[in-house]
Amino acid sequence: MRDEKLKSCLKTTETTLMETFRSTARGREELCLRVNEAETGQPELQWTGVGDLRFLTSLGEVREQSQSWLSLDCLRQLLTAHSSNSVFDLMLREVVLKALGEWEHPFPESELCHCRVVATDLVDTAILAGAHTPERVSRQTNASTQCGTCRPDVEAILAYRLSQVD
Ligand code: FES
Repeated sequence: MRDEKLKSCLKTTETTLMETFRSTARGREELCLRVNEAETGQPELQWTGVGDLRFLTSLGEVREQSQSWLSLDCLRQLLTAHSSNSVFDLMLREVVLKALGEWEHPFPESELCHCRVVATDLVDTAILAGAHTPERVSRQTNASTQCGTCRPDVEAILAYRLSQVD
């Protein structure tokens, strides 16, 4: 009896939360995908996000597209439909690849530039926001402006973030 009560508490009205995948840009945009298990046993995708009007318009498109694509495999189609280097599409790519178990960020440590004490997520945020060359990343974050040892890591993140989906 107690187990039944506990189960009903864990359940939302019609679905059970299976997993959450997120992309965040340091106090700026955020994109989140919740995968729920519906009573039918099918996965149900729930998108939420924070951003400007353009970002939210893209989010609305993805919500509509997700309703007609029921399986997780169909998430891949979203990547084809949203393959630009806009902040929304870059974050969508991260979230979808995380959901598919294919996200492999090339620099897993939290601090990227030791000379200038620049965090990896600051570099990531700058790239998401439009710094799409190593020079622009350096100008915006101060990374790679002393010994230069970290420049290949900046380039690797840029290449990974901006790579097009096949
Ligand atoms: S480690 Fe980044 S400039 Fe030296």
